[in-house]
Amino acid sequence: MRKSILTIAAGIALGSFLVASSLPADAGSPIKARKELMQTNKLAAMTAGAMVKGKRAYDAQVAELAMRTIAATAYGLEHLFPKGSETGEKTRAKAEIWKDMKGFLERMEGMEDKAEEAAEAAKKGLGAFKMAFGDVIKTCKGCHEKYRAEKKK
Ligand code: HEC
Repeated sequence: MRKSILTIAAGIALGSFLVASSLPADAGSPIKARKELMQTNKLAAMTAGAMVKGKRAYDAQVAELAMRTIAATAYGLEHLFPKGSETGEKTRAKAEIWKDMKGFLERMEGMEDKAEEAAEAAKKGLGAFKMAFGDVIKTCKGCHEKYRAEKKK
């Protein structure tokens, strides 16, 4: 259990570092930073997913921390799709994002809300967490379907 807390904590640390290093005053790349934060999301989702699938013992603290991590990435991600970052480096962000920034940001907020709800549900046990986590994953998939391009082979 200690190990999982450490893994997740390292993910959060990485995420917050990237948010800080991509603030407007810094010339850092928003494309790189948003991809890193999405990787943080993946790490958190995989940790929670393993518990939901019974591949690792349920630990309410780890589940909660994983969900708080996802919610926290939204604060950074909201600022990491500025105009001008449509292209440049390798990115799968679709042009739809900039045509419909409002809809895109609403989905990001949806992810944050569902992750906060799941963080609360984690305290109630695996059954409650399972349902709430399912809703978080729907927000990932929903946004990717609309705003993320397929992987180029
Ligand atoms: C509001 C929209 C939105 C939500 C919600 C969202 N994503 Fe993403 N995600 C994107 C976009 C857009 C990209 C492509 C970014 C790029 O290539 O510049 C992306 C990319 C990714 C990547 C690939 C990063 C890389 O290294 O190229 C992963 C992994 C990922 N998302 C995981 C998640 C997970 C897990 C969740 C849910 C917990 C999530 N995303 C929620 C929009 C979203």
